Amino acid sequence: MADNVEEIKGRLGIKDVVSQYVELKKAGLNWKGLCPFHSESTPSFVVSPEKQICHCFGCNRGGDIFTFVQEVEGVTFSESLQILADRAGVTLDKKDYKKKGPSKSEKDEYFKAHDLACELFEKTLWKTNKGAKVLDYLKRRGLTEDTIKEFRIGFAPDSFNALYPILLEKGISKNVLLKSGFISSKDITAEKFYDKFRSRLMFPIFDYLGRICGFGGRALSKEQTPKYLNSPENPVYSKSKVMYGLSFAKKAIKEEGSVLLVEGYFDVILPFQEGVKNVVATSGTALTKDHAKMLKRITKKAVSCFDKDNAGFDATKRAYSVLQGVDIAMKTVGDFDAKDPAEFVIKDGDKFKSMVKEAQGFVSFYIDQLVLRHDVTVLEGRVAVIRELLPLYKEMSPTVKDFYVRELSKKLMVSEQSLYDEIDGFKLSSNHPAKQDPTVVVQVRKYSVDELLIALVLSFPKLFKNLEKILPDQYFEGEINTIYKEISDQYNRARGQLDRWDFDKGFLATVADKLKVWVLYIEEKYQDFAERTLSLEIEKLVDKAQRDRKARRLKEIHLAVLEAEKVSDEEKIN
Ligand code: UTP
Ligand code: MN
Repeated sequence: MADNVEEIKGRLGIKDVVSQYVELKKAGLNWKGLCPFHSESTPSFVVSPEKQICHCFGCNRGGDIFTFVQEVEGVTFSESLQILADRAGVTLDKKDYKKKGPSKSEKDEYFKAHDLACELFEKTLWKTNKGAKVLDYLKRRGLTEDTIKEFRIGFAPDSFNALYPILLEKGISKNVLLKSGFISSKDITAEKFYDKFRSRLMFPIFDYLGRICGFGGRALSKEQTPKYLNSPENPVYSKSKVMYGLSFAKKAIKEEGSVLLVEGYFDVILPFQEGVKNVVATSGTALTKDHAKMLKRITKKAVSCFDKDNAGFDATKRAYSVLQGVDIAMKTVGDFDAKDPAEFVIKDGDKFKSMVKEAQGFVSFYIDQLVLRHDVTVLEGRVAVIRELLPLYKEMSPTVKDFYVRELSKKLMVSEQSLYDEIDGFKLSSNHPAKQDPTVVVQVRKYSVDELLIALVLSFPKLFKNLEKILPDQYFEGEINTIYKEISDQYNRARGQLDRWDFDKGFLATVADKLKVWVLYIEEKYQDFAERTLSLEIEKLVDKAQRDRKARRLKEIHLAVLEAEKVSDEEKIN
């Protein structure tokens, strides 16, 4: 494993890996760009080819090529290893994979099976007479040939044995066929099985890396049930994690800072075709917390646009509370003149785009819907509306609450005070999303004076003697002191003839990752400074640190005196 890691690191540079995701500009020794992990308008994401690390000084994320890919793709270490090994042309062997979960070769067999199936479905769509009719249907629904090809839509022929014999012949095992939901069987040992997807429009479902992991098969006639036959979960397809369209949309989601959530396959594809590319859907399930967490890695904002029926309204409410749980703000497009976004965007693409852009906050949308659905001219209707909204109001911050209380009070013609009374009396149930785990707050790291001093010396070894000269005895404390002692050793051993510190030795090795980031910070902050200026900077910092310490000491003494005065301890006071 270690060998492969080094081999991959040797072949792929951090700058090349990062620049596949982030636009980088040269800045002195390093490269800079907008952080892919949080939204910002001035670049604080720095890539150092020399140190082979990247780091965001805004949100403190980054690392080497593996940590970067893990974070940016939302994958585990072994998956990042695989992704980068593929890119570097390095072949990994079995022992590179952690035992837990399906093995890499098992997963590969699933991906291979799905890809082969997709090829067959595409061929049937484009090259057969029956397929031509299905192609016509797709075009009538507004899809262009390019779009059909891009999303690799296909057609499963009306046959019980079109697919599985081919897959078997290509070496896919019966077990994989069965678990992928390609075949059904009462008695698999007796070889009595048959294709399950028959005479259906086939939407391949892609994972975040664009690998096919499942299918949604749409019926082509009214008699066919169910309307959608979906793949079961399998070792490469987990419905609560995969989002339809995400591999196509992730770039646009990051760029726009927002994701458009819809319900169905056509609802993803048609807006995408019209240029609204940040669009995804869940497939065969409602939005889960896992989906939300995954989206949270790439965006903080969502706009929902679900079907205009009751199921769509319920899904909207659910999406709001799930997204709220991970602190993604959701707006909603609901009041449009079509049954779903697919129909809407075909009818009037420009209107669709402007409505998505100007979507109203979910709460306002919700109030409007409830007012429409209840007779608010009678007390009963008003009470029903208030009851339904209470859980939402309960979790709002005071200012937001104030805003929406006023809105609701106007729409229901009840006093603001009576709404506040209701809200105060209402208790949230313990399983309500608002009660679940608090969100992670991005914190900008502040360096202490001592850390800055060490970082400066680590960046410019020559400055060590300047620091040593002016530093009072026993100046540093704790871990920083240990670091200082180690570099002092290195410096003395090299008799001052030192161009760079060795971070791979002794205690330094255990904190090397951290130290590299400190050095990067100095490079960014002081890159244009001359050595003379830096030496003055060190003096200034030491001076400041001394004053800080003195001030702290004085305060301590002052407190101690106060304490002593309380008990009239004359000796101590003196
Ligand atoms: P819809 O019934 O709205 O279908 O279900 P649709 O995708 O808009 O298709 P058209 O426009 O009628 O042709 C929305 C989504 O719900 C899931 C599918 O993911 C579908 O895209 N669904 C629906 C199922 O999983 N099974 C079903 O039987 C029906
Ligand atoms: Mn629909």
